[in-house]
Amino acid sequence: MSATMKNVLVILGVGGMGKACAHRLAAGRSVFIADYSKENLDATAEALRAEGRLVHTSIVDIADYESVSKFADSAAAEGRIETIVHTAGVSPIAGDPKTIYAIDLLGTANVIDGFYRHATPGTTLTCIASIAAQETALSGHITPDLEKHLATASREKLLDHPDLAPDSLRYESSYGISKRGNQLRVEIASQQWGRRGARINTVSPGVIATPMAQKEASSAGGNQTFLENMIVTAGLRRIGTATEIVNAVAFLASSEASFINGADLRVDGGQAGWMRWHSKRI
Ligand SMILES: NC(=O)c1ccc[n+]([C@@H]2O[C@H](COP(=O)([O-])OP(=O)(O)OC[C@H]3O[C@@H](n4cnc5c(N)ncnc54)[C@H](O)[C@@H]3O)[C@@H](O)[C@H]2O)c1
Repeated sequence: MSATMKNVLVILGVGGMGKACAHRLAAGRSVFIADYSKENLDATAEALRAEGRLVHTSIVDIADYESVSKFADSAAAEGRIETIVHTAGVSPIAGDPKTIYAIDLLGTANVIDGFYRHATPGTTLTCIASIAAQETALSGHITPDLEKHLATASREKLLDHPDLAPDSLRYESSYGISKRGNQLRVEIASQQWGRRGARINTVSPGVIATPMAQKEASSAGGNQTFLENMIVTAGLRRIGTATEIVNAVAFLASSEASFINGADLRVDGGQAGWMRWHSKRI
């Protein structure tokens, strides 16, 4: 690397978690942020610049591979991509299953493939999945065949499976299936990334106080009681904070996590343990 080559931080999605990650990880790096919301991009860029950071903004739709790949190329042209954090996504109430599959499932596959081309020794990609993946898997909505498909299908064929079709009984579980898909694609991609000396992992949050959770609680289709129930059933009996997600992301991106590759780190206050061992299911 030449003396003038910059180290690059990439953040996809600058809502509650992405913005907090950008602030924590920006020091000493050229920061590339992407979102399809100009409003969120501008607000985050302004706040980072006020801290003296060097920031590049791009309007990117992660559901569109070309859009992601162009963004990845622009970040790589600036310097060595050190750290990538992918937080862009929509919640279960944000749209119909088709939108959720396109953004949360295919979008993450687009990010993994688009940035793999620029992975070099030491590069890390951390994708935000969700504890909803565990709930959906425990509910029996993911057959072995669907699981294999989510892990191994090419990006182009990823949405092409009977269980992901509108007439499937599983169609409505789009959020949990997509998030399980994120964990699986990261797990399988750890081979390719690892051979380059790069690492890829997921973080699976429980309920976290960000605009997404707020919107979900207050929207007509949202379910305040469901969220409250999730909060009280997490062992810690409280909502998590964006900072607690950033702490996990910063750890996975650091040399402290140098042998962690293809893993899913739950940051859920104990929610997954409740789902598996204490809920009415057993
Ligand atoms: N907040 C929670 O309780 C919670 C819990 C579990 C998992 N998650 C997951 O964490 C991640 C981050 O969530 P958050 O709470 O920061 O949400 P948020 O809504 O605050 O931020 C998400 C950001 O992604 C952007 N985005 C959405 N679709 C996009 C697209 N197609 N292309 C580009 N940008 C897009 C939005 O504009 C927004 O800025 C999401 O994947 C979410 O599913 C959140």
